Amino acid sequence: MRNLFKRCTGLLLAAVILVSGVLGAGMFSGEAIAAELDAAIRTIKANENGDTVTLPVEDFLRGRKQFNVACATCHVAGITKTNPNVGLDTESLEGAFPPRDNLAALVDYLHNPTTYDGLVEISELHPSTKSTDVYPKMRNLTEDDLQAISAHILVMPKVMGDKWGAGKTKSL
Ligand code: HEC
Repeated sequence: MRNLFKRCTGLLLAAVILVSGVLGAGMFSGEAIAAELDAAIRTIKANENGDTVTLPVEDFLRGRKQFNVACATCHVAGITKTNPNVGLDTESLEGAFPPRDNLAALVDYLHNPTTYDGLVEISELHPSTKSTDVYPKMRNLTEDDLQAISAHILVMPKVMGDKWGAGKTKSL
């Protein structure tokens, strides 16, 4: 009887650990992100002049999905696998030329991607609306989609903090 009790306690403990593990893993799931996206977080930089725009939750959720399809192979969690010095974290985006830390400049990048210094166009090397033959995932993205993907990039540092784009330079 005592053994049975012990075994049940063990099972219960295992169940509790399992459930908390699942909840933990779901921390950055769609629902959790939607719940966190209050108006302040959804207010992002629209352009270089410092204008801001508040987009609806749906845009961020759609942007997240499309980012995962078209961009995450190279930019999972905001890093850049093949060029860790040029991540999607705020600091990297701010330091680019022109600065890419706003919606207009990110959408522009997806039409005309350039090197970090802005000097050389790299549309054959980076997904863009100009290189849909090489990057077919870019083919069906509308202007609104490009904006939603860009909005996702700008909101993730506010949701994930330093974990977005971590792993660049020093830790590699
Ligand atoms: C095949 C890998 C790959 C894919 C897929 C990819 N990227 Fe990139 N991305 C890169 C590389 C490499 C760089 C760095 C380019 C450079 O500066 O030489 C980069 C740079 C960037 C930058 C500039 C970052 C900065 O700090 O200036 C942005 C913005 C960006 N990518 C957005 C996207 C988006 C949005 C998508 C999806 C539509 C995407 N990328 C898909 C590889 C990729």
